[in-house]
Amino acid sequence: MSRLLVTGRQKLSGETYVQGAKNSALPILAATILSKGENVIYNCPQLSDVEASLGILRYLGCEVKRSNRTLLINANGVCRSEIPHELMRKTRSSIVFLGAVLARTGRAKLSFPGGCEIGPRPIDLHLKALRELGAVIKEKHGYLDCSAPNGLIGAKVTLSFPSVGATEDIMIAACLAKGTTTIINAAREPEICDLADYLNACGAKIYGAGEGVIVIDGCDNLEGAHHTIIPDRIVAATLMACAAATGSQITLKGIISSHLASIIPVFEDAGCKIRCREGSMKFSAPSRLSSMRTVRTMPYPGFPTDAQAPMLAAACTAEGTSVFVENIFENRYRHISELVRMGANVKTEGRVAVIEGVPSLYGASVEATDLRGAAALVVAALGADGSSDINGVEYLERGYESLEVTLSELGAEIKKI
Ligand code: EPZ
Repeated sequence: MSRLLVTGRQKLSGETYVQGAKNSALPILAATILSKGENVIYNCPQLSDVEASLGILRYLGCEVKRSNRTLLINANGVCRSEIPHELMRKTRSSIVFLGAVLARTGRAKLSFPGGCEIGPRPIDLHLKALRELGAVIKEKHGYLDCSAPNGLIGAKVTLSFPSVGATEDIMIAACLAKGTTTIINAAREPEICDLADYLNACGAKIYGAGEGVIVIDGCDNLEGAHHTIIPDRIVAATLMACAAATGSQITLKGIISSHLASIIPVFEDAGCKIRCREGSMKFSAPSRLSSMRTVRTMPYPGFPTDAQAPMLAAACTAEGTSVFVENIFENRYRHISELVRMGANVKTEGRVAVIEGVPSLYGASVEATDLRGAAALVVAALGADGSSDINGVEYLERGYESLEVTLSELGAEIKKI
């Protein structure tokens, strides 16, 4: 188990490029299964969750080559429709393979994705929608056994919640269905638009991605395409929180500022100065943040749940009281007990966390238990007095490409052991 050693209170400075978006890469990799011919995917981040998806693609019969952040994927050789448990359990988001394998092969057998550290991860919305597209799905012994003997049939599907994964699963499956599929109350995240852009480049006919209603006209087959993955807005928010917690000025390159529209005002309310121009952001934080007042996580375009943990960590040393309300996942405050061990004054009650800002945190030996909680501990350690020892770095590596390298290049005293 690798660990991070951080000596706090180092100012950050300079500029860094923001990596490609994990939550865009994962559904796009699954969607390559639909295509015939070669796909070239650029700006794909080097993450353990991506590696897990590439392992599933290879197991299914795809040819996968990687050089740095460029992937060559050819799905002509897809010859399996079953994904074994040991491959499924590596990443929660592998459920998005269900729609892709079912649409390509007419069958799909995969184990239920594990719950994960942030709460039970139900897939009822995925299964209900795929059944409405004509899939026959049997759930037994922790496995899903799905078939679409006559192929999938386009339908009108209404989601009771704008689930990101369910929207992606349906969009992918509907591309090869007979007829038109309409998704009502679809998720509107930028990663949904990026997936639609990739699929349309393959010849799909998807309209309205990014809005609440998405229409997909099914077609017979898709060709491989070239696609560049959008920047990761959550990594950008995390780096902003690192600068905010250390009173630093940094420049982020390769961002799309419109994807950060609900994040930027929270930092500005807390006293940060932010200037975005042509894909880069100049971010400067005061020596001490003022209160973030109330931050509520919502589906896009609201404040993203994935940015809640790093943002809350920065709020621990702000002036006054900040209140966070986590509306998306049941259990996204698990890391807070570790922040309290570093001297934070945070009380949680269900979905609400109340943070009384303290002048400073102090370094401690802490344990990460999930991806964004690990990022929060890094943010807290960077601003703390003294040194911290962060366990559970493998969680961080699921979503952040060499975060410790990025931060040390910006001047932080941080190393992985
Ligand atoms: C995606 O997860 C992201 N993961 C998550 O990022 C992100 O937090 C989440 O969307 C919300 O934006 C990937 O894209 C790989 P949901 P997903 O379906 O698709 C409930 C990270 O840190 N729900 O929008 O699983 C669910 O329990 C990760 O990068 C059902 O009830 O999120 C949750 O409470 C964490 N039934 C809510 O909806 C379902 O069938 C949102 O889930 C599906 C979801």
